[in-house]
Amino acid sequence: MKVAMIGAGYVGLVSGACFADFGHQVVCIDTNAAKIEALNRGEIPIYEPGLDVLVNGNRFAGRLSFSTDIAEGVAGADAVFIAVGTPTRRGDGHADLSYVYAAAEDIARAMTGYTVIVTKSTVPVGTADEVERIVRRVRPDGDFSVASNPEFLREGAAIDDFKRPDRVVVGAEEERAREVMRKLYRPLYLNETPILFTNRRTSELIKYAANAFLATKITFINEIADLCEKTGANVQDVSRGIGLDGRIGKKFLHAGPGYGGSCFPKDTLALVRTAQQFDAPVHIVETVVEVNTRRKLKMVDKVIDACGGSVEGKTIAVLGLTFKPETDDMRDAPSLDIVPGLIAKGANVRAHDPQGMKEAKHLLPETVSYCDGPYAASQGADAVVIITEWNVYRALDLQRLKQSLKTPILVDLRNIYDPAEVARQGFTYVSIGR
Ligand code: NAI
Repeated sequence: MKVAMIGAGYVGLVSGACFADFGHQVVCIDTNAAKIEALNRGEIPIYEPGLDVLVNGNRFAGRLSFSTDIAEGVAGADAVFIAVGTPTRRGDGHADLSYVYAAAEDIARAMTGYTVIVTKSTVPVGTADEVERIVRRVRPDGDFSVASNPEFLREGAAIDDFKRPDRVVVGAEEERAREVMRKLYRPLYLNETPILFTNRRTSELIKYAANAFLATKITFINEIADLCEKTGANVQDVSRGIGLDGRIGKKFLHAGPGYGGSCFPKDTLALVRTAQQFDAPVHIVETVVEVNTRRKLKMVDKVIDACGGSVEGKTIAVLGLTFKPETDDMRDAPSLDIVPGLIAKGANVRAHDPQGMKEAKHLLPETVSYCDGPYAASQGADAVVIITEWNVYRALDLQRLKQSLKTPILVDLRNIYDPAEVARQGFTYVSIGR
């Protein structure tokens, strides 16, 4: 099958490369010329484990190409995926659909023959209907269907998630569109991956409901962690104790500094707005959004408390800036609240992140100094704070760390150390809910 992927970002690039690996002929199109030039040179613009080999392998095999020319890429395609960004719209919290609609107009002008236009971006319920109206307006004669196929991959494990998903969700109103989608995902059918066909509005809502549910789970355990701290209970044991109940499940019950990233914050907020618009408010999700926003800022107080009530004039080493490990994505990362919060209280921040520092330099205050590694960041610091649980921080040489620090204070916002062990090594150790 011939596939055009509009948007070569975290989702478009991974999806395009995986579809090519399935044997389809794929062109990834992006308006960002620098990104396309880099991809054509064999350079991968994002950090995602395994993506380099997958992209370049398929590029050399002639199944994957990159272009800024949407007309050329879309002409003759059986399926055109829209995988452009849907960030929060300034002012009202709804999803900004301007990129999706712009892509729809471009596709309408360029498509030839029967084309399935697929929204892979996370889009509010009713967007596929609007895409259909746009395409119909531009091409009254066009032979096309619009389908919804939300993406559930996680950054950091994106390729495996795409190739071995728990399920694929397709919203389509016409059998001939479902047939094209079945052919595209045929290798997954053979693996017995459930492919759930629904109507388009249901498919669109499944994506938001899934993200909101996961965000709720995280926020729930974060509040239980606070209660554990006040009562002397241990949140990790509570997580295990409830997670072993099959009805609850073990995943997404790790207490931490609050969820961030390119999806949960914007998607929970967009769901809240959609629900308000349809006069069916989702009060639970409204609360989750509020609690999580407050929580990130509360982490600043946690560090201040650990430092004896003030960080004024103190140096804080921050380890981990990206919203999670194994990605360079800084969008809505908790560090974007915590680091400026510490600086506002008078701290000097020395930071390290294995992949995120390049992007962080554009987003964090200019006064942050960036270091080569965790020990360099800790040199002469009054405390070290782990914000993101990269593997390189999981087995630090605690004696070396202690020697680097002015005072041995470790604030572990991801619970990756054993409190007893760290205390034995002579640290003041503060973690979450233990
Ligand atoms: P991104 O920002 O990494 O990539 C979007 C790309 O689209 C950019 O390279 C941009 O230049 C390009 N673009 C924008 N308008 C265009 C146009 N008219 N024509 C061609 N290219 C255009 O965004 P990301 O993270 O890949 O997200 C895309 C969508 O997928 C969003 O709706 C997001 O919510 C959703 N999603 C993201 C996941 C993630 O982990 N990042 C996971 C699941 C869904």
